[in-house]
Amino acid sequence: MRLLGGSGAPARLLQLLLPASLVLADPEWPLRAATGSAQALPGKVSLGGQQRSPASAMEIPPSHYPANRAAGAVLHYLTYQRGSPHRLFEMGRVNQASLEDIPGTGHKYHLKFEVKEIIQNGSFLNCTAEILYHHGDTPIAPEIHYTMEEEFETHLKEADNIFYNRIQHLSEPLETKKIPDNDGNVPAEMKPIFNLAKVASGYIVWQNSTENTWYNMIQIQNVKQVKRNDDYLEFSYEVSFHDIASQEIIPWHMQVLWHPQHGVKVAQNSRQSK
Ligand SMILES: *[C@@H]1O[C@H](CO)[C@@H](O)[C@H](O)[C@H]1NC(C)=O
Ligand SMILES: *[C@@H]1O[C@H](CO)[C@@H](O)[C@H](O)[C@H]1NC(C)=O
Ligand SMILES: *[C@@H]1O[C@H](CO)[C@@H](O)[C@H](O)[C@H]1NC(C)=O
Repeated sequence: MRLLGGSGAPARLLQLLLPASLVLADPEWPLRAATGSAQALPGKVSLGGQQRSPASAMEIPPSHYPANRAAGAVLHYLTYQRGSPHRLFEMGRVNQASLEDIPGTGHKYHLKFEVKEIIQNGSFLNCTAEILYHHGDTPIAPEIHYTMEEEFETHLKEADNIFYNRIQHLSEPLETKKIPDNDGNVPAEMKPIFNLAKVASGYIVWQNSTENTWYNMIQIQNVKQVKRNDDYLEFSYEVSFHDIASQEIIPWHMQVLWHPQHGVKVAQNSRQSK
């Protein structure tokens, strides 16, 4: 299914959800963060808490596509770690970028870019990050390390708790389709369900990113709550990703667990055939 003329997400929805500038950020597409590491990266040079690119790294234009795509993958990773149904992050400007070729291993991007939490409308903060894309025959997730220059404001947990209790006590399990609808509308009571899918999709984007992809979750096709015997909420989501790089719409299934104290976990996921 292709974006233009395709029968998938209509062009209007994509316009609404995708950045005009390609500098990535759906209206509803947020994030929050501090420090995180997918795996400690070897060879990090520390200088007063900031990383400095090694001499072998070549500066690349921060406003261009490769730098923004790499920063977008870091943003997804950060969102998965720190997001919640009421906590999402958005990327601002990339201020610095360099690319290091590591022979026999892959490409490492050194980045400095701005991120803000969008649900509580936080301020933009600088994030320093490294992302290493492995070259090789077996696809493996890029290694990511990031440091926030300042901490995000404290998350107000109240809204998450209220939402959690409401869903936990529904008489019938929640089930719904098409969020946003094809005109880009998300009913207010479904926003947390959409945001949770956004956070969970951060995991899938991180795990499946390469230097040739630029994924964003754009629409929930359908979502069903799964009743559990423990304290977690569980949802089975069918979602659509848009790959900005190839313009493909990719359906994906993800099984998502969430608890306000323990965060979001993608228990299972699989790419679906179109
Ligand atoms: C978000 O915060 C910025 C800067 O503090 C402010 O200019 C803007 O009006 C705020 N937006 C909303 C929707 O509150
Ligand atoms: C982030 O750092 C750059 C310098 O690399 C600076 O120009 C910019 O103002 C900083 N942004 C914020 C939000 O502090
Ligand atoms: C996505 O990433 C996971 C984990 O790295 C991997 O097992 C899976 O094969 C990838 N899926 C696709 C369709 O690339």
